[in-house]
Amino acid sequence: MSDVPLHRLYLHYSELPYSLRVLYTATLLVLGLAYSFAGIYLYYTYSAKDGNPLTVSYDDIVIAYSGSGKGSRLESALRGGMRTMLAADEITPIITWAREGADRAKYEQAIRPVIDKRCATCHDGSNPHLPNLVGYDNIKKVTEQDTGTGIFTLVRVSHIHLFGLTFVFFALGLIFSHAYVRPVWFKCAVVVLPFVSLTLDISSWYFTKLYHPFAWVVIISGGVMAMSFAYMWAVSMYQLWFSPTPIVVTRRQGGDTPPVG
Ligand code: HEC
Repeated sequence: MSDVPLHRLYLHYSELPYSLRVLYTATLLVLGLAYSFAGIYLYYTYSAKDGNPLTVSYDDIVIAYSGSGKGSRLESALRGGMRTMLAADEITPIITWAREGADRAKYEQAIRPVIDKRCATCHDGSNPHLPNLVGYDNIKKVTEQDTGTGIFTLVRVSHIHLFGLTFVFFALGLIFSHAYVRPVWFKCAVVVLPFVSLTLDISSWYFTKLYHPFAWVVIISGGVMAMSFAYMWAVSMYQLWFSPTPIVVTRRQGGDTPPVG
């Protein structure tokens, strides 16, 4: 055990009043529960995006934040099942039109005649199971590009996470600060890591839109955050109730443990 003397203001859990230890324990238990639910929620939100629902992968994160890159429902249909409904040279102009934002004037002039001729027999709205493609407002709905979570949603989720998790890790770090952990630099690193990874994680949501490999930063910083959480949680809980009081602490209290060495 390295012999950095205890800080004057450091108190081990064993030196705290029971009311505070009970408060810490209750906080840890509910935080643990909350973190598990967050994990379940993340898993179900992200794992199936790439077509494989078993794991949360790099592709899941890229698709969530920057879109599948596969264009709109209209484009997939024209490249897939609906390909045979029209002449080959009629397909590209429709796809280009959709990709360029589905302009209304261009629709009336160049797109509508083809759609009304080739698609309206089935997609005129009479079959509730098929998208209605007649009229600008109807076809516009299937031209929306999948560009991932919108910036506005990201901003909303960012501020909630930044405020919320700052409180979570402040509380957890405060509780953990009473643990006896050496070396001191390691203890400090564990306390500060979640704040660093939280910031990296959230900023990488936006960067993933620009450059996909940032999805790795999202995954790794999320992992680091979860690991610091688990470590602080487990060490705090163990030292609160289960571990013997560290010798340096008993010695400071003038206990009868003989000096070591
Ligand atoms: C003979 C009837 C028929 C014609 C003509 C037809 N479709 Fe379809 N379309 C269907 C059926 C049936 C489905 C649902 C099954 C499927 O997705 O293959 C469908 C599905 C679709 C979908 C939805 C795919 C999804 O994401 O669920 C789109 C978009 C679409 N068609 C576009 C078109 C376009 C554009 C044309 C004209 C070039 C067209 N269809 C012509 C019968 C037709």
